[in-house]
Amino acid sequence: MSGLLERLRETTGFIQSQYNTRPKVGIVLGSGLGNFINEISVEKEIRYHDIPHFPVSTVEGHTGKLIFGKAGGVDIVAMAGRFHFYEGYSAEEVAFPIRVMKFLGIGTLLISNAAGGVNSGFKVGDLMLITDHISFFVPNPLLGKNVAELGARFPDMSEPYKKHLIAKAKEIADILGIPLQEGVYCGVTGPTFETRSEYKLIQKLGGDAVGMSTVQEVIAAAHMGLPVFAISVITDIGVREEENIITHEEVLQAAKDSEPKLSAIFIEMVKALC
Ligand code: HPA
Repeated sequence: MSGLLERLRETTGFIQSQYNTRPKVGIVLGSGLGNFINEISVEKEIRYHDIPHFPVSTVEGHTGKLIFGKAGGVDIVAMAGRFHFYEGYSAEEVAFPIRVMKFLGIGTLLISNAAGGVNSGFKVGDLMLITDHISFFVPNPLLGKNVAELGARFPDMSEPYKKHLIAKAKEIADILGIPLQEGVYCGVTGPTFETRSEYKLIQKLGGDAVGMSTVQEVIAAAHMGLPVFAISVITDIGVREEENIITHEEVLQAAKDSEPKLSAIFIEMVKALC
């Protein structure tokens, strides 16, 4: 297979041959959070399946397409469905669409995900602004030869989630009357949910929420100097004393229930970015 840079150029060229408006913002829609696409005046949809070098999403709740159009009057590209390490994709494959969106010209990346709450002050349905992350043994997508055209060998990770975007989201949520939590997202590989002891360990390590996505995407973005803003929807509470069985269905339902709040914030963020 050709090198990463070549593949990125081929994929970008293919997409631009189908739709040639430069998106300003890239959006990743997490599990159960795909309804944001109803906010988009869609101009072009391209199924992952049809995009050269793109992996194909298999998980329930992920439809698997790139959507181009306008949200709040701004040109955006949205990923309806993302790639997870637990599906068997490599870390580089998980990061590939993020790199493609940067090549397409986005200036900011908005990410959403479903996550388990480990902060004892959180409840199901809360939105958490991600202020930082901890990679809990998730393979780094930058392992291997560095592609200097993408970024530095040893990228800085002191502020992957940009403070000015977090401040803007707080302003927006305040105006909309949407309460927000904030905290540290702990990325795990999954696909198992955590044991009771793991949830407790993650809490002790400084995590406020835990999930199976995002970290590899954010690392790829930080490598390329692409500013990120991310929100977790808290879909279950990991640290609790009573019976604690977590199912994917419960996670999807909780995400769907909170999705309108997330969409409202994302739309205003997109508008504010232009
Ligand atoms: N753990 C890991 N990933 C998750 C969880 C969880 O509790 N909830 C949603 N995604």
